[in-house]
Amino acid sequence: MSRYAAVTGWGHYVPEKVLTNKDLEGLVETNDEWIRSRTGISERRVAASHETTSSMATEAAKRALARARLAAIDLDLVICASTTPDHLMPATACLVQEHIGAVNAGAFDLNAACTGFLAALIAGSQFIQSGTYDRVLVVAGETLSRFVNWKDRNTCILFGDGAGAVILEKTDEPAGLLSSVLGSQGAGGSLLAIQGGGAARPATPDTLSSGEHYITMHGNEIFKFAVRSMGQAALEALSKANLQSSAVRKVIPHQANVRILKATQEALGLPWESVFVNVDKYGNTSASSIAIALSEFLDVEPPEPGDNLLFVAFGGGLTWGSAVLRWADVGAMMAEREEGPYAI
Ligand SMILES: CC(C)(COP(=O)(O)OP(=O)(O)OC[C@H]1O[C@@H](n2cnc3c(N)ncnc32)[C@H](O)[C@@H]1OP(=O)(O)O)[C@@H](O)C(=O)NCCC(=O)NCCS
Repeated sequence: MSRYAAVTGWGHYVPEKVLTNKDLEGLVETNDEWIRSRTGISERRVAASHETTSSMATEAAKRALARARLAAIDLDLVICASTTPDHLMPATACLVQEHIGAVNAGAFDLNAACTGFLAALIAGSQFIQSGTYDRVLVVAGETLSRFVNWKDRNTCILFGDGAGAVILEKTDEPAGLLSSVLGSQGAGGSLLAIQGGGAARPATPDTLSSGEHYITMHGNEIFKFAVRSMGQAALEALSKANLQSSAVRKVIPHQANVRILKATQEALGLPWESVFVNVDKYGNTSASSIAIALSEFLDVEPPEPGDNLLFVAFGGGLTWGSAVLRWADVGAMMAEREEGPYAI
């Protein structure tokens, strides 16, 4: 019998503190009109001093478990996607595993920058389809505000903090990922990077004073790469799934810039309403972006069984990816379960 990996739970968490474009006008030479017209971003969330990638990911994970009516002890694996983990070691996935009490789960981190959630979703699905595991938590969290140079107007206007999570579960219903695409182009790695603090440039007073622990970006080149890779990857995932774009209920793309989303929509030949957009509220939350967008979409527009969702992302590395997810009859799966220990 074939095994499929259905999304049965979802959740997200964003910090309370809102940083508006107007607030940024007090930090760097910029203005609300410029940011809105070039990026579509109006505001973003910034973690409070007590919040970290693992604390936000933990909250998102608990909400996803509540939706799936599961307890953390039911999980076999925790995969955490992040570019801004709490530490180089231990993995943020292990911190989440401990905080939620997933005592029966393995745990590891995965870094594919803004493509991270998609890469983790594909990896988690493979563990289920192969028969290795039955229940996987895929979580993404980012605290980009701690790696942004708040004096660099090229980057500080773009990014935000937050986390999102899904629960993947074994089902024999033909649902879950119908296709997946992952690509990379390491030659472009320096276009979007945090150069300092790793083994190549360990933290020293020099790396700190030259700001090597901050995100650096060549915006224009990234923009062109994004427009090219998002459209191509999305079409490739559809073709691998033997679907026309008209068969897509909603496109849930990486939320980097509304102009990039428009170009992706045009490449797909779909109406703008087919694209889920929340970049205006949260900015670019890197690996968390699709996870937060998916969770918000599922909260407001629950899909019908058989609906197809199209994910597409690009990011540092350089990396890109896309996948088609077919919605399972989650209502029927939940009807057989008692409420889990967490409240939604
Ligand atoms: C960053 C980005 C919004 C810049 O928009 P753009 O239209 O390409 O703008 P440019 O970089 O050409 O800059 C145009 C001018 O605006 C200025 N500018 C840059 N940031 C500014 C800001 N925050 N406020 C006001 N002016 C700004 C530039 O200095 C430049 O001025 P100049 O013409 O005098 O040199 C855009 O390139 C982008 O979104 N790139 C992709 C970034 C991304 O998604 N990164 C994450 C990947 S996961």
